Amino acid sequence: MLKNNKEIALYVHWPYCLKKCPYCDFNSHVTKLPIDINEWEIAYKNEIEAEQNILGKKTVRSIFFGGGTPSLMPPKLLEGILNQVNKKWDFSKNIEITLEANPSSVEIKNFSTLKKAGVNRLSLGFQSFNNNSLKFLGRNHSVKNGLKALETAKNIFKRVSFDLIYGLPDQNEKMWEKELNEAIQISGEHISAYQLTIEKGTTFYALYRDRKFELPPERTLLNLYNMTDELLNHANLEKYEVSNYAFKNSECIHNYKIWQGSEYCGIGPGAHGRLILDNKWYANHKFSAPKIWLNKNLQKKCASYFNKEISNIERAQEILLTSLRLTKGIDIKNTFNKLSINSKNNILNKNELRKFKELNLIEENDSFLKVTNKGFPILNYITNKLIL
Ligand SMILES: C[S@@+](CC[C@H](N)C(=O)[O-])C[C@H]1O[C@@H](n2cnc3c(N)ncnc32)[C@H](O)[C@@H]1O
Ligand code: SF4
Repeated sequence: MLKNNKEIALYVHWPYCLKKCPYCDFNSHVTKLPIDINEWEIAYKNEIEAEQNILGKKTVRSIFFGGGTPSLMPPKLLEGILNQVNKKWDFSKNIEITLEANPSSVEIKNFSTLKKAGVNRLSLGFQSFNNNSLKFLGRNHSVKNGLKALETAKNIFKRVSFDLIYGLPDQNEKMWEKELNEAIQISGEHISAYQLTIEKGTTFYALYRDRKFELPPERTLLNLYNMTDELLNHANLEKYEVSNYAFKNSECIHNYKIWQGSEYCGIGPGAHGRLILDNKWYANHKFSAPKIWLNKNLQKKCASYFNKEISNIERAQEILLTSLRLTKGIDIKNTFNKLSINSKNNILNKNELRKFKELNLIEENDSFLKVTNKGFPILNYITNKLIL
């Protein structure tokens, strides 16, 4: 029988950005319309109330403001959302509250007010230590802006992370090594290093398809990935997820919990959640279009467009998919027990598992299953073949 967890992770989505980056397929929008902050506050509050009515008493272990660019949210709005969460549920005494921020000057000015409102962890979209790369990525900040934002963030928040994107056209091992060393010099407890992916529907998708640029060859990309591991691990930033590195005990609690398969609730346009109700798992997805989401919630309707029961087998497959991203892997026995799944043969392809183990791409010990360092660069291929 599924146990209703007392603790929950909460994701809050803010969908607006100053500019749409050409590689980004997140639910992010540029709007010319004025944003009525009072309306947005009412809508978020209504949605939190609606979720609380369904979920009942909970302790919130983590809140993640993601986007879009949530650092553009007026601090008063963020404060209003946090007050409502605190009113409807309990805050865990060591709650982690993360906010994603872009390094523009508008946002830096808000950092200390956001901290006062309750944010205690900042994740900065630094992206690159090379101005040409920032230009290619369509960012509206320079390396200098990034460094300034990082310095300000580190003076204000105890926990700061930043994102980097690598695997850009013409990027070679020497160039990435230089960037990584610069990153290490100024890093705090956490770095996310993402390989550029070309997502359908983005500007880069069309440009790449029309051969307007090329990505580095596979061999170079593999070298860049391995170099990231090597240099960051050497600086005590240990890989804990395929693209995430942290000092010991400084991992992002929110993301870690979600990857491990904990219950989480999503608030805001396009947010999704996985929730246990009456001993069953539910997948829940909010309207993505900001205006539709807003209007539904102003009418006091929880803006889900999708709230569907999922079987324990489906949930086990999802958890396997996300927890294999973790270097620690998945405690199969425990996870499957909780979901009353008797045989892993319903979830995993036995033959593929055997092959991957023989090739040293996957390791199994006691009840743990984990992808090896050799396997991580082809994680998507492995999970595609492995999970039924
Ligand atoms: C929700 S996004 C953005 C947060 C913030 N608005 C920003 O741009 O800094 C989180 C991170 O995902 C990464 N990302 C987004 N799209 C990507 C792509 N196509 N390839 C690689 N990394 C990507 C970027 O590093 C980005 O900082
Ligand atoms: S990468 Fe960040 S700033 Fe750029 S469009 Fe996506 S969410 Fe907005």
